[in-house]
Amino acid sequence: MNTRTITEGTTLVMVPVPPEGVSFPPSCAPVFYNPEMELNRDINVAATSAFVDRLISQHSIIPSDVTYVDVLSASGIRGLRIANEVGVSAVLNDWSREAYELIVQNIEMNNLSETATASCKDGNVLLHGKRFHIVDLDPFGSPAPFLDAAARSSIHLLEITATDTAPLCGAHLNSGIRKYAAVPLNNEYHSEMGVRVLLGKAARDLAKHDKSMIPLLSHATRHYVRVYLHIGHGAKLADKTLRNMGFISHCPVCGFRKPVYGLAVHIDKECPVCGSTTKIAGPLWLGRLHEVEFCDEVLLELEKRPLNTKEKAKKIVTLCKEELDIPTFYDQHVICRSLGISASTMDQFIDALKEAGFRASRTHFSGTSFKTDAEVTEIKEVMRSML
Ligand SMILES: C[S@@+](CC[C@H](N)C(=O)[O-])C[C@H]1O[C@@H](n2cnc3c(N)ncnc32)[C@H](O)[C@@H]1O
Ligand SMILES: [Zn+2]
Repeated sequence: MNTRTITEGTTLVMVPVPPEGVSFPPSCAPVFYNPEMELNRDINVAATSAFVDRLISQHSIIPSDVTYVDVLSASGIRGLRIANEVGVSAVLNDWSREAYELIVQNIEMNNLSETATASCKDGNVLLHGKRFHIVDLDPFGSPAPFLDAAARSSIHLLEITATDTAPLCGAHLNSGIRKYAAVPLNNEYHSEMGVRVLLGKAARDLAKHDKSMIPLLSHATRHYVRVYLHIGHGAKLADKTLRNMGFISHCPVCGFRKPVYGLAVHIDKECPVCGSTTKIAGPLWLGRLHEVEFCDEVLLELEKRPLNTKEKAKKIVTLCKEELDIPTFYDQHVICRSLGISASTMDQFIDALKEAGFRASRTHFSGTSFKTDAEVTEIKEVMRSML
């Protein structure tokens, strides 16, 4: 395999080079490497480090006592960075022999043989055989085939990437239903729908093992979703976690939406605003997407590290921290279009919502999206009052 050496963070990584003149998607290379995911990996280093600091202070342990597994490691880049830049003991696993051999070379090149170990197993076999403090799933497409084993194996933190946004967000409906046992709605907040479908699946997989979860940070960026879940233990906590599950009733005509908590629920078919028939998405995670204190800790980590994507990463985590904890965002342009008016700036509009007595924030999902506790009719009134 033809390789070149790149640097991400403070870690050197040998990655495959495509044959000259050939440009192929990362998934076609002998070993996968996607430079586009550096932002995801930079946030991962900061978030994992922030979490490890918590573990160290709560459990009086040293970093090298903390075990982390990069279950689907390819070149090893993700786990190598965690071993090198966070200092925990990392297992870098991939069932491909070529990937495994590259991982071994990458561990050597970074002098990480004390903290990083290469492994060449089926990811599910590895996870069923051993428990890790931190489990990181970063697959091609859907993490669904690995979620049960990851839920079983993870002791404190479960980190998941999903790149199958079309199934998660409702664009490939049947595939999403098969993978996540949930029905999404492909509407203006489909990106948030994807996050809540994934979190809902993770909550149910963890509950099977009498485990609970608190999402510390969740972001939908470009074509993937990434979530960081703090794991708790015991049936009582698992039951409490499942109380965050439910459905969203959405009116496709006027934009009204309502979260309905529970798994066996009565949902009104008629929109209370315009009388049209509502659509239902779920079961979904309707609880929090982020913990504000954790976002602050991640921001401190991002600030102090040499990262190529530092500014972008800080922007995402800051928006996550500041977005209101309310299910489903609105898109300013969609509502303006329905009213036949043009949009004001987002800052002016959010100020107007606040002046009218509502809570309101931007979101990390898109530049035209906002969250508020105002109902859709109240949002429209505020928009009209700004004309
Ligand atoms: C998207 S790549 C991983 C990317 C990597 N985490 C990174 O940040 O660059 C997915 C990897 O999973 C490996 N893989 C797929 N199914 C697997 C399985 N069941 N067990 C172990 N590895 C698997 C593939 O060989 C591939 O290298
Ligand atoms: Zn309606």
